[in-house]
Amino acid sequence: MPEAFESIYHVTGKDFTNAGKVSTSIKDTLKRLGINPAIMRRIAIVSYEAEMNLVMYAVRGTISLSVSLEDISLMVKDEGPGIPDVSLAMQEGYSTATPEMREMGFGAGMGLPNIRKNSDEFELSSEVGRGTQLHIRVLQAA
Ligand SMILES: Nc1ncnc2c1ncn2[C@@H]1O[C@H](COP(=O)(O)OP(=O)(O)O)[C@@H](O)[C@H]1O
Ligand SMILES: [Mg+2]
Repeated sequence: MPEAFESIYHVTGKDFTNAGKVSTSIKDTLKRLGINPAIMRRIAIVSYEAEMNLVMYAVRGTISLSVSLEDISLMVKDEGPGIPDVSLAMQEGYSTATPEMREMGFGAGMGLPNIRKNSDEFELSSEVGRGTQLHIRVLQAA
């Protein structure tokens, strides 16, 4: 495994055709880097949920992956409506998904709770009318 690996991915809001491609690409990259499967699975969940939130709720954004010997981190930044009440959004089952999104199988309101559950460090900040920023870290086994 190299000392460090970094990559940045772009995600477009409402682009359901390409939704999921970034998290698939991240998963492939981690596999190629030989990351432990249990850690890979946690990052796969986090990146998929973050990507889908970006597609569903934001206008556009980026997901930056950074791998070191100590940890894997994801910085997810979007331009979008922001989250008016972050602690409400963090509650299991809370969702503002539209009926169309629910028809596609989204809107269980478990994305953010599962992101937190699968992260060793979790920071979510948001500014209404501007966008949302999520930073997570998963520690590599010592
Ligand atoms: N990037 C984002 N921009 C704006 N709102 C968001 C974003 N991510 C999440 N939210 C808000 O937080 C709620 C909960 O998100 P989540 O737990 O992933 O559930 P779900 O995606 O099923 O609605 C969403 O319904 C939405 O209102
Ligand atoms: Mg979600």
